[in-house]
Amino acid sequence: MQDQFKRQIEYLRISVTDRCNLRCRYCMPEEGVNWISHDSILSFEEILRLINISTRFGFRRFRITGGEPLVRKGILSFLEQASQIPGVDDLMLTTNGILLAEHAFDLKRAGVQRVNVSLDTLDPKRFRHITRGGDVHQVLQGVFRSLEAGLDPVKLNVVVSRSQNLEELPKLTELARTYPLHVRFIELMPIGASDRDEFVPITEMQEILGIQDVLATEDVQGGGPAEYYRPPGFKGTIGFISALSRHFCHTCNRVRLTADGKLRPCLHSSFEVDLRQALRSAASDAEIGDLFAKGVWLKPAEHHMNDEEWQDQRLMSQIGG
Ligand code: GTP
Ligand code: 5AD
Ligand code: SF4
Repeated sequence: MQDQFKRQIEYLRISVTDRCNLRCRYCMPEEGVNWISHDSILSFEEILRLINISTRFGFRRFRITGGEPLVRKGILSFLEQASQIPGVDDLMLTTNGILLAEHAFDLKRAGVQRVNVSLDTLDPKRFRHITRGGDVHQVLQGVFRSLEAGLDPVKLNVVVSRSQNLEELPKLTELARTYPLHVRFIELMPIGASDRDEFVPITEMQEILGIQDVLATEDVQGGGPAEYYRPPGFKGTIGFISALSRHFCHTCNRVRLTADGKLRPCLHSSFEVDLRQALRSAASDAEIGDLFAKGVWLKPAEHHMNDEEWQDQRLMSQIGG
């Protein structure tokens, strides 16, 4: 459906939990997170009902996010049911990869087409530091199991932080030379626990990597804001997501559903529509649909992240990226 600025909105990002088995420094503090209470988290039945309703408005791409979606009990059976809803053309997952090796084949069987995996560094010690305790080998195993399982394409999300992984960019691109992987470098967004001083603009990353416009390619399947480049001889591609320095709000095609049932039309606006309350009243599908459509229609024109004063109540793990 169209929003008030004539953008075609057809992509719903669904956060199924705010819990995570990692604690990435730019995403959440080590302690003191206000977890969403279990009662407030939408049940899978409620989410399936919303997916169904959204397909009537032309929604067809669905990305399941978290926190970490694979830590939620019953996720596989939920995905299987979601993939069978008529109108669900694309069912995808964004994951930190820790539990991916054991689930990659199950995900494929459940009807998930593809996965995006967070991977900021290949160095085990640095990975443990950034994620506060994670094991990079588990993630790498998950990535390769995903390729074996036929999840396609497999994309890697590298959030670039100046003092953490900037020097490692050339090494990370090597993964895309050797394997059909799409390595995407992401500008750090000032949300939740992230530090503005760590920000690196895409132009600087491209300079380090010697990426030029002639290498641009559009042959990577996706519904998101990444721009891709394929250097000669590469099996995969290098992608960039520039939420700040070259924002893509005018082409935005998505809205979000938080784990506590709020429709959040923009990642960076605290404007939300409470769908949970409607779901838990006696509201009909038509009434919930009206509320959903109203939220989409009111999607803000653009974000205001470049405004230093901008603050949000929610952490990234509570929105789903
Ligand atoms: P595909 O292109 O369909 O593969 O998905 P995607 O890149 O949109 O999804 P993913 O969950 O992998 O997100 C990658 C990065 O893009 C994360 O850092 C997200 O926070 C960011 N991102 C996703 N959607 C938006 C958006 O609407 N606005 C902004 N500013 N960032 C976004
Ligand atoms: N800025 C940019 N990307 C972020 N992610 C998490 N926090 C941030 C941030 N502050 C990324 C994760 C994950 C995706 C959902 O969002 O790396 O891949
Ligand atoms: Fe967990 Fe993802 Fe946040 Fe890292 S970025 S703590 S993996 S939700």
